[in-house]
Amino acid sequence: MSQPDARTVVDLLLPWFRRNARDLPWRRDPTPWSVWLSEVMLQQTRVETVKAYHAAFLAAWPTVDAFAAADEQEVLRAWSGLGYYSRARNLLLAARAAVAAGGLPSTVEGWRALPGVGPYTAGAVASIAFRVRAPLVDGNVERVVSRFDLRREDPRKEGKTALWARVAAMHEALRDDEHPGDLNQALMELGATVCAPKSPRCLACPLVGVCAGRSEAASLPTKAPKKPPTEVRLEARLVRSPAGTWLVRRPETGLFAGLWEPPMRPAAPGVHGSSLVHVLTHRRLVVYPRWEERADAAPMGVAEGYVEGRWVADPEEVPLSTLARRLLEWPDGPTPGAPGVR
Ligand code: ADE
Repeated sequence: MSQPDARTVVDLLLPWFRRNARDLPWRRDPTPWSVWLSEVMLQQTRVETVKAYHAAFLAAWPTVDAFAAADEQEVLRAWSGLGYYSRARNLLLAARAAVAAGGLPSTVEGWRALPGVGPYTAGAVASIAFRVRAPLVDGNVERVVSRFDLRREDPRKEGKTALWARVAAMHEALRDDEHPGDLNQALMELGATVCAPKSPRCLACPLVGVCAGRSEAASLPTKAPKKPPTEVRLEARLVRSPAGTWLVRRPETGLFAGLWEPPMRPAAPGVHGSSLVHVLTHRRLVVYPRWEERADAAPMGVAEGYVEGRWVADPEEVPLSTLARRLLEWPDGPTPGAPGVR
């Protein structure tokens, strides 16, 4: 079967999306601020998790102007648990730039000019909130289009340009009364709910009759194998005094930028015992935590690699990563195998 015509795909996808679109909070009143926030949150986080955070952000900051005036530590605290914290910092920087320039832009070029806004986000917000014919390609779209076109190129490498061009051609095939945001969301929705990575439900797919890759759908797209994450061994000091738990703040750049955590450092070679394993995209952290009690609440030294430290009575007062939260829940008592503990 040959690659389906762009207009044919549109004719099949849009009615399917009208009937099958999930009822998601940010679809009910797609204002630019709400859409932008949802798209940034959805980039690396599951829909079910995003729902509560999206609602909490809109409650705290109903407009982009309110958000632009927020304090960064407050934003990081609200983001705590969502992961990929640079998203929150970049969102705040871009919101401040947009507000300083007079408000949120309505074109792809306007969005791309904001710091940290890439082609995906620009296409998503311009199409969904402003009805601009703007293509986008995310992991779901890569899979859906690679399959119905039977494309064997790696969608992140040599196949990337052609994939964006193919979605752009579908936008050009839209009639003026059809919504470009619906086309993008239909492609993503199909990938998220029907055209699944391992077991595509082809019998439920509106494109089943025109899909060139149907017979080998489960093996498309072809992607370079992922590198296994690098293992990093760390020791964490969990120090408690009458004033609370000693937490330190990470610098403004790098992993977990600006977040607070118990001080960590590379584990000495002999350290072993119970550990907590925390897996990130490129790193597998093996952390050996150790609780210490202190009678006095004088400030401790700020450990190497951190910018500030303090005793924190309630850790929810400061922005924490999920790793820091897990460490603070580590059971008390001697850690078997830790230095000085038998
Ligand atoms: N994934 C990210 N954004 C999406 C959207 N707007 N619709 C469906 N899936 C998505």
